[in-house]
Amino acid sequence: MRREVSVRNALPQEPGESEATIRAEAFSEAERAAVYRAIFERRDVRRHFLPDPVPEEVLTRILTAAHHAGSVGFMQPWNFLVVRDPATRRAVKGLFEQANEAAAARYRGQRAALYRSLKLEGIEEAPLSVCVTCNRQRGGRHVLGRATVPETDLYSTCCAIQNLWLAARAEGIGVGWVSILDHGALKRLLGIPRSVRVVAYLCLGYVSTFARRPDLETAGWRARLPLERVVYRERWGAGGAANGEGA
Ligand SMILES: Cc1cc2nc3c(=O)[nH]c(=O)nc-3n(C[C@H](O)[C@H](O)[C@H](O)COP(=O)(O)O)c2cc1C
Repeated sequence: MRREVSVRNALPQEPGESEATIRAEAFSEAERAAVYRAIFERRDVRRHFLPDPVPEEVLTRILTAAHHAGSVGFMQPWNFLVVRDPATRRAVKGLFEQANEAAAARYRGQRAALYRSLKLEGIEEAPLSVCVTCNRQRGGRHVLGRATVPETDLYSTCCAIQNLWLAARAEGIGVGWVSILDHGALKRLLGIPRSVRVVAYLCLGYVSTFARRPDLETAGWRARLPLERVVYRERWGAGGAANGEGA
């Protein structure tokens, strides 16, 4: 018999409550539609945040989804530092303003004008932030699978962030990734140890709308590449509609 799916029983169960395996049936039509809907309707959000607080139980569901990401050697190298304090977020906004000024100065002419017109964060508008970090020492010196490609702990942390982003969308919560920040200064501000890497500073909050297309696409910064351009078959560059690496 098909399992009933609700947010509650989709959450991981206590050990012992569940059988060791789950039948590998495809999801029902409605379940599949919901998964793809979360993927296609996920957006990076910087505006239209509502001031409504995000309840702890909703935040816990989203962070639980993040914590269930794949990780190299089951290392689980992430931490999620939740920041609600407006004074702290104001200080982070100050770091953004400094870094963004330096970033804007790298562009010239029309591109510079377009860059300056973009809204690239919602640090103060969103009611909370989550700083996602990667502890590169977690699991000791020999993490299974990581010896060959040491950055796989950082990739693992990005997998957690994507889970968070999709779960948030399913909850009607927008997420904005702010990378225009001096991570050293951010670490000092938030008391993050030097040995721990900041991977993302995320702004979270309920939103009135999700845009159908990425803001940067609408602003004319860049268009989505056709899928055929990024899929190769058997050999690098082969089988795509337009081969070769372009901008
Ligand atoms: C690693 C990473 C860093 C990003 N940093 C920023 C940022 O600093 N400011 C910003 O406005 N968007 C940032 N974004 C969001 C991207 O601009 C956005 O994902 C992209 O334009 C596609 O839009 P979509 O997420 O709505 O599909 C970042 C996204 C990623 C994955």
